Amino acid sequence: MIFRQLFEPESSTYTYLLSCPDTGVTALIDPVIETVDRDLRILQELGLRPDFAIETHIHADHITGGLMLRERTGCKLAGPALDELPCRDLHLREGEPMRIGNLVLNPLFTPGHTDTHHAYLLDHAGLPMLFSGDALLIEACGRTDFQSGDAATLYHSIHDKFFALPDETLVYPAHDYEHRRITTIGQEKLRNPRLGNDRPLEEFVRIMDSMDLPYPKKIDWALPGNEGCGSCPDNLPPEKERLCEIDRQG
Ligand SMILES: [Fe+2]
Repeated sequence: MIFRQLFEPESSTYTYLLSCPDTGVTALIDPVIETVDRDLRILQELGLRPDFAIETHIHADHITGGLMLRERTGCKLAGPALDELPCRDLHLREGEPMRIGNLVLNPLFTPGHTDTHHAYLLDHAGLPMLFSGDALLIEACGRTDFQSGDAATLYHSIHDKFFALPDETLVYPAHDYEHRRITTIGQEKLRNPRLGNDRPLEEFVRIMDSMDLPYPKKIDWALPGNEGCGSCPDNLPPEKERLCEIDRQG
């Protein structure tokens, strides 16, 4: 498999490039609108074009690059069916694997950060790789205090779906704010300060409830943008308008 972990610094988002070496079929998981040019340049250097842009959830902290990628390359947009976004081409459900050439991506319904969040599990030559979205981060997890989030639901998603995976499963999160890149299920089971080391549900909910996080800076325009698969909403701040100009230039 051809694999790249790409970083967008403004929202500290990781975009993942996966490509089947047998067929050249290629996907980007969670692309960001600010880094579409960068992603296309890297793909070109690899001699690839994107076939799919796949979302883990409807993001509140950045606008997805999905729509711009589709306009510029003709790739298909994929994401959780439960999001009910008509602008997507493929609607993913747990139990219905998605094929990227000979690679098989298994959607895992993992609500809690949002109520329709999905992670994706890939078996790469016998080594499981989990794209955990915002459900499980490195020694952290996605926030649960807005956008249909629920701490108890997230606890069950992580325990029932993620911690049931083999300890050696490589975990690739959607974000890290300290430039860490990867963790494993075994490591999070032991070290995650919020719900590792067998912390009970009540303690996790108390930790999440007491976090007192600031209102997300971009949510008012990122959510409508992402509900349009990465369109530019009317309330985009002036400093972001250049993204739409690129969009229109196509
Ligand atoms: Fe998120």
